[in-house]
Amino acid sequence: MTLPDTMTALVLREDGYASGSAGDMPTDLSEFVSLTTVPVPQPREGQALIKVSRAAVNPSDLMFVSGQYGQPRKAGMPAGFEGVGEVVAGDTPLLGQRVSFFGMGWGTWAEYAMADARMMIPLRPDLRDEDAAGLIVNPMTAMAMFDIVRADGAGAFLFTAGGSQLGKFLIGLAKDAGIAAIPVVRRAEQAEALKALGASEVLVSSAADFADRAKAVMAEHKPRILLDAVADQVAADLFFAMPRGARWVCYGRLATTPPRLDQMGQFIFMGKRIEGFWLSSWLRETPPEKVAALVGEVQGRFASGAWHTDVSEVLPLTEALDRFPQVLATKDAKVQIAP
Ligand SMILES: NC(=O)c1ccc[n+]([C@@H]2O[C@H](COP(=O)([O-])OP(=O)(O)OC[C@H]3O[C@@H](n4cnc5c(N)ncnc54)[C@H](OP(=O)(O)O)[C@@H]3O)[C@@H](O)[C@H]2O)c1
Repeated sequence: MTLPDTMTALVLREDGYASGSAGDMPTDLSEFVSLTTVPVPQPREGQALIKVSRAAVNPSDLMFVSGQYGQPRKAGMPAGFEGVGEVVAGDTPLLGQRVSFFGMGWGTWAEYAMADARMMIPLRPDLRDEDAAGLIVNPMTAMAMFDIVRADGAGAFLFTAGGSQLGKFLIGLAKDAGIAAIPVVRRAEQAEALKALGASEVLVSSAADFADRAKAVMAEHKPRILLDAVADQVAADLFFAMPRGARWVCYGRLATTPPRLDQMGQFIFMGKRIEGFWLSSWLRETPPEKVAALVGEVQGRFASGAWHTDVSEVLPLTEALDRFPQVLATKDAKVQIAP
């Protein structure tokens, strides 16, 4: 295949991290990325070049481009952590194959992206592009965190941002394993859909009876794990109301105001713990055979229809910046980019 010399990409405008305290997740990205023509990257040893067909737009991308993520930005490089496309060049036997991949410096919000040749995931033909575009970040995090729940022997677990795509994946896993999944949401209108997916109960944090409902859930289900993407006072209050030995696994920071921890004795006398989860660390620390087995399971779940990525908009690269402010405000479904 003859490759072009240049390509269109949404390129980072700034280096490093944002200064100041935690901010909101942006919807207008024009301050952080620009639509630019850049050279098509040349793969070196161990790298592969992919013609991107779909790229995900996740909260981690929005936090990263705005300088609020756990990795520094590099001005001039395309944004976008994950996507799906065809391998068109590089040091790999997967040439010509459709793969899901994680962008390696050269991100996925571009016509071509670079991947670590050992980390690409060859795809089953029956996997939809909308599922394959986001095959790694949310599905693998759901798998890994559900493993924490299973290994703990918990019969029930709570999780915040319950209506998120990741939350819906957790509900599917819990339903199949016979474990009670209890999402916490801030909008009551999400509750029915989450129950239909298999949630045992749904706690609505904005409801007047939230505290009473939470108390009743604690008494009935005795959840020992809280998987928390928000990190606010609601999460803290739930954690302190959980039973002895409870674990608060913080894996996202969607709230801008951090919680106040006012029951420190629970760490001493009730054996409670707060910990973090980051997929990047988990991938580094987990044996490759286990990661490969879970990737196979993820593909199987999408192919069988047990999991489904809800997509609200697929934006051409050239229109993305103009349309982000409107489409990123849409609730309950993902925006994707089709370069
Ligand atoms: N640590 C890791 O390795 C890792 C990996 C993957 C994902 N994550 C995190 O997992 C979370 C979910 O990701 P996703 O892609 O599944 O999300 P998503 O589908 O884009 O949905 C985001 C959800 O977050 C809720 N939300 C946003 N701000 C909130 C706030 N201040 N208080 C309460 N709820 C809030 C939204 O609720 P509304 O609909 O009410 O706005 C929505 O349900 C994100 O925080 C992401 O960063 C972490």
